[in-house]
Amino acid sequence: MSALKNKRILLGVTGSIAAYKACEIIRLLRKSGAEVQAVMTKSATEFVGPTTFSALTGKEVLTDMFIDPPPPGEIHLHIAENVDIIVVAPATANILAKTAQGIADDLLSTVLLVSDVPLLFAPAMHHNMWQNRATQTNMDTLKKHGRILIQPDYGSLANLATGEGRMAEPAVVVSKIREILGIPQDFHGKRVLVTAGPTREPIDTVRFISNRSSGKMGFALAQAAIDRGAEVTLITGPVYLKSPEMCSVVTVETAEDMNRAVRKISTQQDFIIMAAAVGDFALPSPQKSKIKLPNHTLTLKLQSTPDILKGLRSISDAFIVGFALETEDGEKNALKKMKEKRLDAIVLNYANQPGTGFETDTNEGTLFLRGEKKGIHLPLESKMKMAHRILTEVKKVAAKEPMKS
Ligand SMILES: Cc1cc2nc3c(=O)[nH]c(=O)nc-3n(C[C@H](O)[C@H](O)[C@H](O)COP(=O)(O)O)c2cc1C
Repeated sequence: MSALKNKRILLGVTGSIAAYKACEIIRLLRKSGAEVQAVMTKSATEFVGPTTFSALTGKEVLTDMFIDPPPPGEIHLHIAENVDIIVVAPATANILAKTAQGIADDLLSTVLLVSDVPLLFAPAMHHNMWQNRATQTNMDTLKKHGRILIQPDYGSLANLATGEGRMAEPAVVVSKIREILGIPQDFHGKRVLVTAGPTREPIDTVRFISNRSSGKMGFALAQAAIDRGAEVTLITGPVYLKSPEMCSVVTVETAEDMNRAVRKISTQQDFIIMAAAVGDFALPSPQKSKIKLPNHTLTLKLQSTPDILKGLRSISDAFIVGFALETEDGEKNALKKMKEKRLDAIVLNYANQPGTGFETDTNEGTLFLRGEKKGIHLPLESKMKMAHRILTEVKKVAAKEPMKS
């Protein structure tokens, strides 16, 4: 779960009221595996103390060009050479002006001038400052110089006035960083619903029927979709996994709960990926107290749980992907399920092969897509890699044929 693993990001923080939003950017970047070095301007330290940034980055925060005693070499060169990208968020009108004009009068502006890695700015300021012709001219100059700018949002500003100038949300800044660093953002603007994990059907107050699903495949799919810019909702049964960041998580227990949660939002989705191992049977009325076993045997009467996939097509225009976990006759069963439930795609995987199916970190299978005669073999690899491959193939087919209306 680390799309930005081994990426080194320099985050410049300048003197804006939005400086606190840089804390969330650091948190999200580090959660994605990136190493973050913060450089603050003198004004920025008036808004949020360097202690906060050093705690969040796990590194000393750099604020000064001239340090006593002086470190060996040239600090600005050293910093600029050892990063993959420099992000200035929030970026004041002042830093935009200085960078556009090539002014280097403090550590951050000097690093920006000396650097040859991609430079990303997320401006934040009062709407009059933003609309000022000088600022707009500086923005044009920066674009001409190949700098990347994230348009500020329209909304409520620090002085409660409304206008254009609010810094873009941290998640948007992080998504742009990913794009610049080569992680495709082909799901940007798409809403993706993923279900994961097992369900639990109660027998009595302390016991339940469940299955061995760990939720790892569904969580990997959710993370992969987030990393590729999607707005993700993850509906998960009880699992022991950390929920992904930048995603809305709904936790459920029974198949009935999951059915309700899915139906509630299925009409608003572009993609629905049903990776959960939903229990097939439940007790019609579980006992409200702990069952005693007088005769050493217990007979349970079970009835089938709601079929979540069935009928989803008639209420949602989303591209629907199902999962078929089989032990034998896999292809026949998967294709039958795909046809009967009118799915756009189905992932066949096996519960009885080493390294695949439940609980493992790896998986192997076959992806069948609507309109394609042959299935695509998904080789044995990490669930995260498989998740990315599924998204890539699904996106190709969805782009070819518009979603049903
Ligand atoms: C309370 C307060 C809020 C400010 N917010 C902003 C802002 O959001 N954007 C901006 O460009 N300048 C803002 N300024 C002005 C900058 O802090 C000022 O221009 C400073 O010189 C910027 O220095 P720096 O770019 O080196 O950080 C603010 C000033 C104050 C006192």
